Amino acid sequence: MKADEVLIAHHDVLRGLLGQLRETTDGQLDRRRHLRAEFLREVEVHTQIEDEIFYPAVSEVSPLLSVAHAEHRQIDDQLATVMRTPVDDPEFLVEVRMLEATLRHHAAEEEAEMFPQAHTLGEDRLEELGQQLQDRQAELARSGAMRWMVRLKHTVLRLV
Ligand SMILES: [Fe+2]
Ligand SMILES: [Fe+2]
Repeated sequence: MKADEVLIAHHDVLRGLLGQLRETTDGQLDRRRHLRAEFLREVEVHTQIEDEIFYPAVSEVSPLLSVAHAEHRQIDDQLATVMRTPVDDPEFLVEVRMLEATLRHHAAEEEAEMFPQAHTLGEDRLEELGQQLQDRQAELARSGAMRWMVRLKHTVLRLV
């Protein structure tokens, strides 16, 4: 798979998880906690593989990098708010919707603007990057360090 195909498939996972989370009812608090934790795990992996591999690779051909980095920070901030808000708080779904809007905007911008720019790197390079992204994604998904980091984030954010 080419890099953009790998990332779009992962965007679909992220959009799907937030959509499912948004549709939960007040009677589904465990499901809310579960989907929130799942989204945290996936979005951490996603931003990390982009920051580490994809963004540096496209920095020559895309003028959108600084905007994209700023949007990653915004997603991180909004996610921190969602993590801090109790799942039975009336504001919980309001915060989820705001995070979802930012994520959808960011992903759409990458798909419509940055990924077409990345194609100027050539198909071979995109295949090579796609493989690197998938390898790193799999590595992070099973890495103890990542799980530790996510757990730490859970703990820290809840204490704030
Ligand atoms: Fe991104
Ligand atoms: Fe992305």
